[in-house]
Amino acid sequence: MNEELLKKIIEKKEFSQLPKKDVELVFEKFENKELNDYQKLKLTRDLLRKIYSSFSSRKLLREVKGRDVEWFLNKHKSTKERLPFYGDIYKKIFLGVTEKEISVIDLGAGINGLSYNFFPKNLKIKYIGIEAVGQLVDLMNKFFLNEKINGKAIHESLFELEKIKKIIEKQKRPRIVFLFKVIDSLELIERNYSKKLLKEIVPLADRVVVSFATRSLGRRSEFSARRNWLINFVEENFNLVDDFEINGERYLVIEEK
Ligand SMILES: C[S@@+](CC[C@H](N)C(=O)[O-])C[C@H]1O[C@@H](n2cnc3c(N)ncnc32)[C@H](O)[C@@H]1O
Repeated sequence: MNEELLKKIIEKKEFSQLPKKDVELVFEKFENKELNDYQKLKLTRDLLRKIYSSFSSRKLLREVKGRDVEWFLNKHKSTKERLPFYGDIYKKIFLGVTEKEISVIDLGAGINGLSYNFFPKNLKIKYIGIEAVGQLVDLMNKFFLNEKINGKAIHESLFELEKIKKIIEKQKRPRIVFLFKVIDSLELIERNYSKKLLKEIVPLADRVVVSFATRSLGRRSEFSARRNWLINFVEENFNLVDDFEINGERYLVIEEK
């Protein structure tokens, strides 16, 4: 691995706090191609941007003071789109869970921990968000501290499967795992990794909720076709207990067979 080049790649602020493993995995895609160092650097940064930072405003990478939670939620594509619907989404996700104390483990959380106050008020939720972008981890932890919320964000890569499993296993049951709009990112780095991840985490969780976008600009057919593999895989291996769509995002609620 070309350490010099790797160092240069993460000189940009938006990549400066990514787990080394993720940067290496992306770099490996170009490392042995017939390209010069500049081309490798550029292609690695382009792919890193697509996977880790294209959905959040650069404003979230700086320390921002004096803004309310809604301001932050509006600065990230996924939370912004969900903002008017969070109450309904969470009501559906927790439907049928009889316990009042629940652990939520949010994989590839972005800033979704900031939606904590939309969780149903009758539930006591411990929230754990796992996210690769260090700045977003810090942002969530500051929010939890200021609002005295039972939440914690952890800076970790979802490719560190054993570490992720340990984090999940440490949480009290019932455990609900979120994988919101993150499958695409995982697949861009390692094909079929989401299947491997689901196979390992569904047995550790009482419920797993996977979401993906159903709307895209252009190339609609390719977009919907890509999802069939996931739905087929879920139906073959798990119980699909609910499947709903809200504002261009489809949620699959999965439990062990
Ligand atoms: C489209 S955003 C969705 C964020 C959040 N789940 C939501 O729906 O509001 C995808 C997020 O997953 C994170 N991510 C992607 N690959 C990851 C990985 N291998 N490890 C940890 N986080 C990852 C990205 O940094 C980004 O914040």
